[in-house]
Amino acid sequence: MANRCLCCGQTCEEDGRYHSKCLRRLWNKAIAPKIPFAAKDLPEKVTSSKDHMSISGVQAKALVRLNDDSSEIEFAPSGSTHILKPEPGEYPGLPAMENTCMSMAAALEFPVPPHGLFPMSDGRLCYIVKRFDRTVGGGKIQTETMFQLLGSTDKYSGSLESVGKAVRSHAENVGLDTIDFFERVLFCFIIGNGDMHMKNWALLIRDKKPSLAPCYDLVSSKVYLAKEEDSALMLNAKKNKLKRRDFEALADYLKIDPKAAANVFNKFKDAQERLRELCVNSELNPSMRAKFEDVMAGRFARLFGR
Ligand SMILES: Nc1ncnc2c1ncn2[C@@H]1O[C@H](COP(=O)(O)OP(=O)(O)OP(=O)(O)O)[C@@H](O)[C@H]1O
Ligand SMILES: [Mg+2]
Repeated sequence: MANRCLCCGQTCEEDGRYHSKCLRRLWNKAIAPKIPFAAKDLPEKVTSSKDHMSISGVQAKALVRLNDDSSEIEFAPSGSTHILKPEPGEYPGLPAMENTCMSMAAALEFPVPPHGLFPMSDGRLCYIVKRFDRTVGGGKIQTETMFQLLGSTDKYSGSLESVGKAVRSHAENVGLDTIDFFERVLFCFIIGNGDMHMKNWALLIRDKKPSLAPCYDLVSSKVYLAKEEDSALMLNAKKNKLKRRDFEALADYLKIDPKAAANVFNKFKDAQERLRELCVNSELNPSMRAKFEDVMAGRFARLFGR
């Protein structure tokens, strides 16, 4: 069986486990740097300084960059170019899960920053993603999460309608970003991502022009948590038992032309096999792959019937 690239998940005829092209996108050169540390060695307080609040989150993670000769990855409390997320003890395979979901998003042509899986010093794979809030020269690009923008106090309260409305009122390219947002909502439902709370939606403000930030933190939380809700935020006044008509109501609320909304549904229907294929060929272990495949099959059935 052909190798699968540990970045994009597609077959890889080249030697090794990465497409050179994928490595170049991630590191600007076709190298797979060594990681001379393991999850247990992560600096505890990467997220504590005020300057780095932007990557604070629940999961352990580190700000990193390539070292001087590009052979290894090093911690970079300042001047980081990438974010590294190790495997958390309580969620085995989470790096592979995030990498797979990001590859699925990329296959659907969402804006996705370069990402990949790399072995840490103990052999466990971690997930690495290039920062989208840094310029090539290392300058900062402002991001604002919906939690900040909407003045939330609880990241799980609020609605997808309110997030969509904020996208509509701030985005420079309203039409494009509204459809992008709608598609991502549908995508998250399909993969079983019930953790798209207010801090997992953001705007990127480049040259004073806001747009929906590229994808991040995409995982099938349903695979890990049997009781996970359909949606972290309300949709059509509910978080569960979502049906196609709830998503249609969102499209309507966001003033998306019904024909355009129908095209979005068709696009997903047509992508079912591609997404399944990325799942079954992923780095997830067989039981997680099977669960993930089931979750997606269930979601497709709920949207499109069997
Ligand atoms: N590629 C990226 N470039 C820049 N900023 C990012 C990127 N990925 C994530 N972030 C920022 O870092 C924050 C934390 O990242 P992420 O959501 O992936 O971590 P998490 O710990 O899994 O979050 P959660 O709190 O949802 O569990 C995000 O809210 C986002 O603002
Ligand atoms: Mg998050």
